[in-house]
Amino acid sequence: MIDVDAAQQVLRTNDRDGHTVPTDGLYPFQWSWDSGITALGWLQFDEARAWQEAHVMFSGQWDNGMVPHILFHGDAESYFPGPDVWGSNTAVPSSAISQPAVWATVIRLMFEQGKDRALAEAAVQQLLPKLIAYHRWWYRERDPDETGLICSYHPWESGMDNSPAWDDPLAKVPEVDWSYQRRDLGHVDSEQRPHKPQYDRYLYLVDFYKKNGFDSDFIYRNCPYRVIDVGLVAILHRATRDLLELCRAAGADEAMDDLSLALQRTENAISKLWSEEHRCFFNYDLVADEVLDEITTGTVLPLFAGLASQSKGAYMADLIDEWLDATAFALSSTHPASDRFEPQRYWRGPVWLHINWMIAEGLSDYGYADLAERVKQATRKCVDESGFYEYFDAQTGAGCGGGQFSWTAAVALYWLA
Ligand code: DGY
Repeated sequence: MIDVDAAQQVLRTNDRDGHTVPTDGLYPFQWSWDSGITALGWLQFDEARAWQEAHVMFSGQWDNGMVPHILFHGDAESYFPGPDVWGSNTAVPSSAISQPAVWATVIRLMFEQGKDRALAEAAVQQLLPKLIAYHRWWYRERDPDETGLICSYHPWESGMDNSPAWDDPLAKVPEVDWSYQRRDLGHVDSEQRPHKPQYDRYLYLVDFYKKNGFDSDFIYRNCPYRVIDVGLVAILHRATRDLLELCRAAGADEAMDDLSLALQRTENAISKLWSEEHRCFFNYDLVADEVLDEITTGTVLPLFAGLASQSKGAYMADLIDEWLDATAFALSSTHPASDRFEPQRYWRGPVWLHINWMIAEGLSDYGYADLAERVKQATRKCVDESGFYEYFDAQTGAGCGGGQFSWTAAVALYWLA
């Protein structure tokens, strides 16, 4: 049974004058995909606050259309790397990469489910041009060669930071040559966070964008980390479909042609990533020209995007069915048969609620309602066992990472309650 009052209280506690921090201390700013998922939680009990979450996020949109993955709305000693390290000098201090493009999907759900119609219509009028600019940015800057598959410049951009899928491409990135003090380890057990060699490379990449003046074209050709991230591709694809629905509802057809074309390109290209043997879509290292053959929850997200044929959908449903059998608290972010599976470490095995929600949505869309319900029940068990943690040990259900976590409470309110 979800404790609705307690879940609402998590969002109120994490509210900072219009944006919600993921959790106090560990993540003291506004993270884009956290914020989007969290808005769905607010929608259940305070619609005005849900829309405000979106307006505040888009107040930090860059002139080129990018929505940064972090908006630094103030100072906080408890987080590293802060705005000075990113060096982007924007009106709202921010990071210089984005994160999975959940916003158009969230805004469509808020628009369709919100009871205050006047509020919803006014908000969509305001947000629609910003969403269009954001999606155009993804396709223009991250797929200038129009391959149909946008690329990611940083494991943080995937939102699945420490996934074993990124180990090989990240290992080829040089390490930073300056010392720094991590703050995350002051909040969370080191067993549940990335190792130092990974952090050294995360920071090298942050420096690389800054040293190269955030020049998109240069970075696209020269960034030492360029990966086709199936999760990022799928979430963007789903969101572009949702954005087109919003455009239709608002009678705004000015962007429909180019965004429809972008959808078409991705639909034509995605099967290149399919592995019949492993029953999922694999990520791809563009620098090494290599398939990244790690099965993670990201590699079945094309279900959420409607990007797989019915037969590929059936293969993925089989994979998920077996995957659910293999861990007590599922779905684990990395397949438990992997050598690199760690049930507690950040994105290397634990369970994340919002990803399970996306997978369950996809399974329902493909006609696997019973399996979707199984994913939902497995997800509910995590919250029943441990409350609103950031993520959950896939074997024991123990809460990991930050406590009183916004998107966990939000998904509980939106989906599980
Ligand atoms: C972190 O600092 O761990 C964040 O996930 C980066 O976005």
